Amino acid sequence: MQSVGEWLRLITAELQGAVERPRREAQLLIMALLEKDELWLMTHEADIVEEGEKLASWVERRKKNEPIEYITNRVSFYSQEFHIEPGALIPRPETELLIDEVLALADRDAELTIVEIGVGSGIISTVLAQELPKAKIIAVDISPEALKVAKKNIECFGLGGRIELRQGDLLEPVSESIDILVSNPPYIANDEPLESNLDYEPDLALFGGEIGDEIIKRLLDAVFERGIRIFACEMGYDQKPKVQHYLEGKRYNELKFYEDLAGLDRGFVLKT
Ligand SMILES: C[S@@+](CC[C@H](N)C(=O)[O-])C[C@H]1O[C@@H](n2cnc3c(N)ncnc32)[C@H](O)[C@@H]1O
Repeated sequence: MQSVGEWLRLITAELQGAVERPRREAQLLIMALLEKDELWLMTHEADIVEEGEKLASWVERRKKNEPIEYITNRVSFYSQEFHIEPGALIPRPETELLIDEVLALADRDAELTIVEIGVGSGIISTVLAQELPKAKIIAVDISPEALKVAKKNIECFGLGGRIELRQGDLLEPVSESIDILVSNPPYIANDEPLESNLDYEPDLALFGGEIGDEIIKRLLDAVFERGIRIFACEMGYDQKPKVQHYLEGKRYNELKFYEDLAGLDRGFVLKT
């Protein structure tokens, strides 16, 4: 049996060339297997790893390009650790910006009703509930697998009483009046060629239709039909002109687009 330090060196060598940061991924795999943190890892290199076989199988999966988050069932988002599994999209760092957009205009002391469409792993609703202590959140997803993951995270953070999960198609399961609508919907075109690591993620979370922006447009329709005052939405880097075009001739107060850290258009906030 090998020690933590030996496994660190071995996995780093195995993942060389297969992943961008082999040493970091070796650490993440070992920490997840042993359910330990960074400090423990730094101070226990001589400890023997009992579950070597399992660790070796994880390394093999990673070499085949399976996302490390699905292997470890852990993902970092908004400085916290969430549970993740293949039924739900792996949270992306740029989605933190969508949350910041909502937080910038939500009144912390107001009893807002916030609806999230496409809750996935539950990261957006969880952070919003943490940051807006008086808000009530209704979170919808069409996928039962995603809702299972969201439920696990929401309960783990003790937010079961603040976030209500509902299954259904977009706003169909929500009859309440809505103060803020937020969504990171699927927005990739059905036939767009994707990198192979995305093969592991659910189609329902990625593909928005033939063009890609169909769900965004359905959400925009719902915003006007239901008189929703604020809609914050993530989108594809090339979808700004489509959103602008779709809103031509519609009456609203403000439309603001925001960029991600790479300087690409990534989402918008519509105030009607
Ligand atoms: C891009 S993922 C976002 C997941 C999570 N909110 C995040 O930001 O990581 C989109 C989510 O929308 C859900 N979805 C797709 N079509 C839907 C529909 N018609 N109604 C409700 N949810 C839908 C998918 O199941 C998926 O969980």
